[in-house]
Amino acid sequence: MWSNLCALVGTLTITFGVSLTGVHSNAFTSQKQQPKMTTLRTVIFLSSARTSAPMWGGDARLGDRVSNWVQAHLSERASKVGDEDVTHEVTVFDPIEVFGAGGALAHSGAQMSTPTFFTKDVPEGAKAMGEKIEQADAIICITAEYNHSVPPGLSGMLNHFGGSKFKCKPSGIITYSSSPWGGSRASIALQPILHELGSLPVSRMVHVPSVAELIKESGEWEQEDHRMKGQLAGMLDQLEWMAVAMKSQKEKSGVF
Ligand SMILES: Cc1cc2nc3c(=O)[nH]c(=O)nc-3n(C[C@H](O)[C@H](O)[C@H](O)COP(=O)(O)O)c2cc1C
Repeated sequence: MWSNLCALVGTLTITFGVSLTGVHSNAFTSQKQQPKMTTLRTVIFLSSARTSAPMWGGDARLGDRVSNWVQAHLSERASKVGDEDVTHEVTVFDPIEVFGAGGALAHSGAQMSTPTFFTKDVPEGAKAMGEKIEQADAIICITAEYNHSVPPGLSGMLNHFGGSKFKCKPSGIITYSSSPWGGSRASIALQPILHELGSLPVSRMVHVPSVAELIKESGEWEQEDHRMKGQLAGMLDQLEWMAVAMKSQKEKSGVF
């Protein structure tokens, strides 16, 4: 049933995380030093729906390399916000699946023939996708750059859902490109979209230039100490801090 629903939405949900705190030796200390654990529900949006290689040769979708890297990093990451250990339960929305046959938004397409918030008659897959976004604590967009802007696969997924699904949650922007500019101009175009949806993009961003030269298909970097690799941890530090703060405030006073 669940796997059927996942196939319908076009998502993958994985729980990641490493506790930083060791095992306690007796009941007293375990009561006193009980670690606080926060699992952030983190939704990743991919952007490229590319399924073909250029006729002059070239690589398959480079976004998969970046996505593999980011997901592996999240699974190994051991982070703290204050005294809380933070882990991630990750859901990935891939436009190839979401807009493909049987996908959550196949009925409407990235061209938005039926925005989900225009109708009560929303297909089950789209409803489930909307619920996942609404329940998320943090958003991550992994985007290519199309003509200095956001590819339609990503803007199509974001546009389908109104601001009520995104508000009071932070977002992190990761761009990449086959060129040396790393897709950074797409990040500038993406910020107002996220703002308008009520999500606050954190100031640190990740830009990966010449992806095919830097990241292997597995998501591993060719050069472990490459300076561009370090951007991800810095962005996630901000994203997690904001997500924990907003989650706690929402639990106290709801969303506005
Ligand atoms: C329609 C289109 C527009 C593009 N525009 C840009 C651009 O403005 N800047 C850039 O650095 N690369 C641009 N590219 C090249 C992409 O960076 C490159 O195709 C990249 O591999 C796309 O990501 P993907 O491999 O995940 O599909 C463009 C590619 C396409 C198909």
